Amino acid sequence: MSEIARIILDGKEYELPVIVGTENEKAIDISKLRGASGYITIDPGFKNTGSCKSAITYLDGENGILHYRGYPIEQLAEKATFLEVAYLLIKGDLPNQKELDWFVNSITNHTLVHEDMKRFFEAFPTDAHPMGILSSMIASLSTFYPESQNPNRSIEDVELTMHRVIAKLPTLAAQAYKNNMGHPVVYPKNSLSYTENFLHMMFGLPTDDYNVSPVVNDALNKLLILHADHEQNCSASTVRIVGSSQANLYSAISAGIAALWGPLHGGANQAVIEMLETIKNDGGGLQKWVDKAKDKSDSFRLMGFGHRVYKNFDPRAKIIKKAADDVLEALGVDDPVLDIAKELEAVALKDQYFIDRGLYPNVDFYSGIIYRALGIPTDMFTVMFAIGRLPGWIAQWKEMVEMGEPIGRPRQVYTGATKRDYVDITKR
Ligand code: SDX
Repeated sequence: MSEIARIILDGKEYELPVIVGTENEKAIDISKLRGASGYITIDPGFKNTGSCKSAITYLDGENGILHYRGYPIEQLAEKATFLEVAYLLIKGDLPNQKELDWFVNSITNHTLVHEDMKRFFEAFPTDAHPMGILSSMIASLSTFYPESQNPNRSIEDVELTMHRVIAKLPTLAAQAYKNNMGHPVVYPKNSLSYTENFLHMMFGLPTDDYNVSPVVNDALNKLLILHADHEQNCSASTVRIVGSSQANLYSAISAGIAALWGPLHGGANQAVIEMLETIKNDGGGLQKWVDKAKDKSDSFRLMGFGHRVYKNFDPRAKIIKKAADDVLEALGVDDPVLDIAKELEAVALKDQYFIDRGLYPNVDFYSGIIYRALGIPTDMFTVMFAIGRLPGWIAQWKEMVEMGEPIGRPRQVYTGATKRDYVDITKR
């Protein structure tokens, strides 16, 4: 028998249905509350509010569990390829070989971007942050493929748009990097895998082949998988709400990139490295920085620490921390910042302030150390997060469309001035 929640308002009792998910998560369905009682609920930051039912990703914040379509992240990170995981998130099941070949082949053959887009790059300042470039470029793709703007487009057209944006994001990201370096653009090479192709476009030259290190390629594959989706985080919710107005997929993804850029979200991986460098250059003890992070009068936060959902540990951070050791050893890289990060984690996790608030390293705390060892510049770290998160955003957008969800339009409680008459300027 399904549970009921009862609420008493102005002396009247209202019954609200309770829904239970497949992992026994429970929610009170308040969709009829305002109509019946005139009351709404309010929850700044949606810390206790669900925006949707979703079958894509399951998180258990208390037990550090992360599943994509039921598959544990630990298994996928070890055994799958990134495009295999992208297919899983978007389609709902792991592909067989024929399905994967079709998916990879379609994406591989859409990696080029229109030559006219070169002019856009020339218009940006040379030191433009690549996340600003990327958000603009992805939105402008909708102008090159106007059929994507049709809300009633065919399933085939939608699928083609999904494959185009997955294919072109790394190409645009690498071009932003080359543009920033003042180096010639390196075109995609269809004989390479998705991750090899990105490394080739980033670090190769038009004149000679780039030998992709298997260690680097494997590390990139693992990092992209670990970032691929994370249920209703800030950027995924942004993609869903922009898509709910029937704006095209490119525009929704562009908005997701913009949301991810924030230092409280995906921008944290860049902020972590900048923080660790500051601590290294400061030369002072780590406790000083932990104390600053606890001091409410100090704006300093321990970047890469804390999470809205994970209150014990972020399972991705555990995998990335181990991968950082393995990759740096395999590449013979000795990065003092990794030692500082580990020591900082150890100091913070003994501190009651962090223990009381369930603040642990999140996905962003160690990822930048690997990106740096792979030769990726700091201001491209959040771009790497975006490339990883793209299939998740697409899966979330597709689910929202397929569920026929209404346009997202929250209510509010008005706290401004009550009705008053206009006063002529001469009398103010
Ligand atoms: C990502 O949502 C997702 O799933 C995101 C993500 C994904 O995959 O999409 O996992 C990716 O965005 C990871 C988070 C990256 N951001 C950072 O590392 C920035 C630093 N962390 C924080 O700013 C913070 O922890 C958040 C933004 C991640 C979470 O913030 P919440 O849930 O709104 O919690 P809060 O800010 O209300 O903090 C609760 C308490 C507060 O103290 P009190 O008011 O209770 O005394 O914890 C404190 C905060 O001051 N706190 C921190 C802290 N994070 C929280 N204190 C010091 N340093 C920190 N990092």
